[in-house]
Amino acid sequence: MSVGIIGTGSYLPSKVLTNFDLEKIVDTSDEWIKTRTGISERRIIDDNANISDMAVEASKKALLDADLEVSDIDLIILATCSPETLMPSTSCLVQQKLGAKTIPAFDVSAGCTGLIYAITIGTQFIETGMYEKVLVIGADALSRHLDWTDRTTCVLFGDGAGAVILGKVQKGYGIISNYLAADGKGADLLKIPAGGSGLPATEDSFEKKLHCVQMSGSEVFKFATRALPRATKAALKRANLTIDDVKYIIPHQANIRILENVAKKFGVGFDKLIKNIDKYGNTSTASIAIALDELQRANKIHEGDILLLVGFGAGLTWGANVIKWVKYKKSK
Ligand code: UT7
Repeated sequence: MSVGIIGTGSYLPSKVLTNFDLEKIVDTSDEWIKTRTGISERRIIDDNANISDMAVEASKKALLDADLEVSDIDLIILATCSPETLMPSTSCLVQQKLGAKTIPAFDVSAGCTGLIYAITIGTQFIETGMYEKVLVIGADALSRHLDWTDRTTCVLFGDGAGAVILGKVQKGYGIISNYLAADGKGADLLKIPAGGSGLPATEDSFEKKLHCVQMSGSEVFKFATRALPRATKAALKRANLTIDDVKYIIPHQANIRILENVAKKFGVGFDKLIKNIDKYGNTSTASIAIALDELQRANKIHEGDILLLVGFGAGLTWGANVIKWVKYKKSK
């Protein structure tokens, strides 16, 4: 028995915010954003929706894809950087909205690497025999934590959700290695300073926009160009594979130049890296799951293909999952 991905789903809000729209909000240009980041447009969550709503939509699609009912799920793990509330966890809200019974549900906070962490955690639960099917979600609405006067951050992020269902697959297939890492020395490089117990929301914190994303862009960029290759090498080594064995690298979508840099470092064709940043911007914990779902639904993944999911983010954190894809069948 191995553990694999037996269903995928994603959800993007319908509201599109283009670079041209942003030109009217801050001192920026379509040309700058496109050339420096690769982003053309991003989606923005509806005013009356929350991340649990996006997570539920992505989860329903993943359940349908796996040909499962919500009652088949044993555990929900939701990765996010923008939880709906500090308490309760967003995963509990998703559990209720999905109509799942009293199955356990918890959130994972690991920056944009959250999905990689959550897949790794979910895999362990199935490997130990404790659960059979785990719903893993990445959902973020960082648009609600952006300072719309700060051009260095507000042009980068978009909202969305992606989901995968983990379950048993035939031996030798599925998730064949995981690698996780963190370095809290870089905690200040990417953060939302206020709103937690360390700096509760006050008039002062609101005025100083401390509940908004703050980032040392160039430092995070440098970190990313080191972290992605590091995670890639480590996860492939654990899987006893090389980069040449990988059919698709599905990286966290933060900046097209980071991905170009990674392709160059590995001497692999840029087409091996899956990219959708132009349409969605950086959707944080959702980005890898959305890219995987789009690839899967385009019928581009075939049995035996090796996929590498690789991410980095606030924390600092980084990590990767190596997957040998298998065409899944319903196994209730
Ligand atoms: O999920 C993980 C989180 N984030 C990331 O991975 C982001 C990693 N970092 C990056 O992607 C890049 O560092 C950025 C896209 C954030 C910035 O690109 P950069 O090439 O590193 O630009 P920079 O910060 O060095 O800024 C260059 C210039 C500056 O002007 P001056 O000082 O040279 O006059 C900025 O003020 O570009 C200016 N600039 C802008 N200009 C127009 C910064 N943002 C903008 C903007 N529009 N939106």
